[in-house]
Amino acid sequence: MANFQDRVVIVTGAAQGIGRIIAEHYAAVGAKVVLADYSEDKLSETQKRIREWGGQVLSVPVDVRKEEDVIRLIRKTDEQYGAIHILINNAGISRWKSPYELTVEEWDDVIQTNLRSVFLCSREAAKVMRRGSRGAIVNIASTRALMSEPNSEAYAASKAGIVGLTHALAVSFAGDKIRVNAVSPGWIETGDYEALRLADHKQHPAGRVGKPEDIARACFYLTDPDNDFVTGINLVVDGGMTRKMIYEE
Ligand code: NAI
Repeated sequence: MANFQDRVVIVTGAAQGIGRIIAEHYAAVGAKVVLADYSEDKLSETQKRIREWGGQVLSVPVDVRKEEDVIRLIRKTDEQYGAIHILINNAGISRWKSPYELTVEEWDDVIQTNLRSVFLCSREAAKVMRRGSRGAIVNIASTRALMSEPNSEAYAASKAGIVGLTHALAVSFAGDKIRVNAVSPGWIETGDYEALRLADHKQHPAGRVGKPEDIARACFYLTDPDNDFVTGINLVVDGGMTRKMIYEE
């Protein structure tokens, strides 16, 4: 198990869902965690949960679509902790709507939230990371970068964009010893896991629907300094769903 004690870890979209669990996992092993989200109420709830069991945590209200907010997030983190070792670009939204009806504003909103934010946060964090000996960035993409259901154009494009951006940044930042990888989650249940049906679990080759903890452990793997031979990859964590061939009868 890697030693994340006192490592400075920024998680975007950390107020709830997968981001919250990733942040709690790093805090539980002694990291200094920076929670970044635009949902201020839920942000303070997550901060409170981590503080209650003695975790080191700073929360910064941020809209990742706004360049000035991202610059402020990195500045505040640097002022508070004097370093950034790990960045998890997790904030994201989805919008399911027919491509005939999707407006340009809706398209831009998804792309700015999911994709442009990854560029902005990575660019700004890397400026601090390169002062240290090394850094690691993980971008949360999706299996929808690789496969589709109808009416998911903006989301699929944003997530496929993340996969491309990941290998581009991995090559550009290599000289500064900053590794950049993506995780593509499949179905990760962030609501009531007990309410899932048997059929939901059974359709997965792994025999179950995913949990946020599955993604947190993938982040641990990709940000472990011992795994410094791994950069530019897209790690699919989906219980095997994208490997399952389906012909309709
Ligand atoms: P969620 O909706 O529960 O959490 C997303 C978080 O991002 C929220 O706390 C929200 O406030 C924050 N956020 C959204 N827009 C923001 C903005 N402009 N600025 C700052 N914060 C913002 O979503 P979930 O399920 O936890 O997903 C997390 C990531 O994982 C997303 O990128 C999502 O696309 C990806 N993902 C999730 C899957 C799933 O099955 N849950 C599957 C594949 C990918």
